[in-house]
Amino acid sequence: MRQFLRDSGHLIRPAVILLAGLGIFLAVRTAFIPKAFGEYGHYDPAALERIRARSVSYAGQDQCVLCHDEQAKARAAGKHAHVACEACHGPQASHALADDPSAHKPPLPDVANLCRRCHEKDAAKPKGFPQVVTAEHSGGALCNTCHQPHNPHL
Ligand code: HEC
Ligand code: HEC
Ligand code: HEC
Ligand code: HEC
Repeated sequence: MRQFLRDSGHLIRPAVILLAGLGIFLAVRTAFIPKAFGEYGHYDPAALERIRARSVSYAGQDQCVLCHDEQAKARAAGKHAHVACEACHGPQASHALADDPSAHKPPLPDVANLCRRCHEKDAAKPKGFPQVVTAEHSGGALCNTCHQPHNPHL
């Protein structure tokens, strides 16, 4: 037996390392993988609860248009018809869903940065998308000196 152990040392050492590695792997795996993982396939069911517990940040434009008829009409008549209110105004659930929206009045967008976020000329954009080299196009003036943000053609 002793002879056998001495002769197979080169096999036993890697085997011990392999088993130790496996042990560490299993310990780490149990520590980090959520308990219910796998109940619905490759997914952690507890994530549903975590997501549900988050507060809503976007109200959705269906809400905005209920109260802001003037802006809704202007937008519907122009090229921004398909740009969501909150794409420019940011997430406004705290305003739109409040008992008193005027107590949570959103700040107006920062026009100096807002428009060029979508319209700055960039070769990667589709050719048909209206784009300008903003510095040359506006000559430094704010975009809304000439364009109405809700219907930019005007
Ligand atoms: C329940 C009605 C209601 C809803 C829904 C609502 N608002 Fe308002 N909003 C108001 C009221 C009231 C004011 C304050 C008006 C005032 O004091 O001049 C206001 C003010 C604003 C202002 C500031 C206007 C200014 O002159 O400074 C912006 C911008 C705005 N709302 C955008 C939105 C957006 C975007 C949404 C959708 C996410 C939205 N609102 C949903 C009622 C509403
Ligand atoms: C393309 C960007 C953009 C979109 C889309 C947009 N807004 Fe605005 N909105 C602006 C900007 C910029 C201003 C500020 C104008 C200024 O400072 O004169 C503004 C101003 C407002 C104001 C203040 C009053 C006014 O008319 O200046 C309200 C209220 C408002 N928006 C509501 C809405 C609602 C509701 C929608 C969706 C139906 C919407 N906006 C969609 C950019 C946008
Ligand atoms: C979230 C992206 C987004 C932002 C921000 C945005 N736009 Fe637009 N804009 C669009 C889209 C989408 C169209 C329609 C493109 C099309 O028709 O193919 C458009 C169209 C336009 C047009 C073309 C109008 C026409 O009649 O041909 C102008 C001008 C314009 N926007 C100006 C502005 C100005 C000024 C601002 C800032 C107040 C602004 N946009 C902010 C997405 C945006
Ligand atoms: C001095 C007035 C003025 C200012 C300021 C201005 N524009 Fe314009 N813009 C125009 C006029 C006029 C047109 C239509 C004629 C043309 O296509 O040049 C236009 C057209 C556009 C178009 C459509 C281009 C196309 O290919 O269809 C976009 C997009 C646009 N502007 C975005 C902006 C943005 C973004 C700003 C702010 C950085 C801005 N504009 C500032 C006057 C202005």
